[in-house]
Amino acid sequence: MTYLLECEGVTKNFGGLVALKDISIQVTKDEIIGIIGPNGAGKTTLFNIIAGALPPSYGKVFFKGQRISEKPASEICRLGIARTYQMVRPFNSLTTLENTLIGLSFGRINPPDYKKRVIEAMNILTFMGLGTKANNAAETLTLVEKKYLEMARAMATSPEILLLDEVLSGLGPAEIVRAMDTIREIQASGVTVIMIEHVLSVIMELCHRVIVLNYGVKIAEGKPNEVANDPRVVEAYIGNVEMGEQETLNA
Ligand SMILES: Nc1ncnc2c1ncn2[C@@H]1O[C@H](COP(=O)(O)OP(=O)(O)O)[C@@H](O)[C@H]1O
Ligand SMILES: [Mg+2]
Repeated sequence: MTYLLECEGVTKNFGGLVALKDISIQVTKDEIIGIIGPNGAGKTTLFNIIAGALPPSYGKVFFKGQRISEKPASEICRLGIARTYQMVRPFNSLTTLENTLIGLSFGRINPPDYKKRVIEAMNILTFMGLGTKANNAAETLTLVEKKYLEMARAMATSPEILLLDEVLSGLGPAEIVRAMDTIREIQASGVTVIMIEHVLSVIMELCHRVIVLNYGVKIAEGKPNEVANDPRVVEAYIGNVEMGEQETLNA
């Protein structure tokens, strides 16, 4: 079977530090996959490797059967994998619209006609609730708006896979509910979503499958409720502030 995305024995060393150790993951179309794990577990590093920002030390990544782990990030993006950044990275002096147009220009489809690109970018910004901010410099946006701009720029590349790196962190409870709806709509439009997330209630509600990393090792994988009850996961991850957030959100 050819998977939409497959990581095969991915290892990443930073000097003596093993950030990822022999990670194998298979992703099929239309899933929402959650990646959880304590800080420093290797979650962002995994995204960096899938998106081509970093090469793996060992192992391979395949997208629809094609090996992508030797390709530059720009080419992987054009093939159909987009990502957001945990630390938001807008082009500050450009407008919200221009940031989104960059996604369109370097993405999978790249409409040749500028007017069509602007219309498409405005549609995406409106979907993300940023329509009225189109002509504002990105640096003037609030953190929440910058998080949506990350998603807008990524979606502008017409991805088949969207990698979301903690897009919900820093959002209040009401904003989290709205962002969850946005992610659901993105998935319903045919985009496979892989999301790194700390708020467990979000993972439980949104994700079809969860992968747990701890010190660079995959310690569990399965349906959200299975994973949440796995003793290794409880020991590594649950039982701290995340549970408190979940209770608050469900209250
Ligand atoms: N470019 C890098 N150079 C050196 N060490 C790094 C680099 N990126 C990440 N690391 C280290 O790798 C480990 C995993 O980091 P990261 O993937 O950011 O974790 P997470 O996203 O799960 O919090 C951490 O110990 C981090 O300090
Ligand atoms: Mg991270």
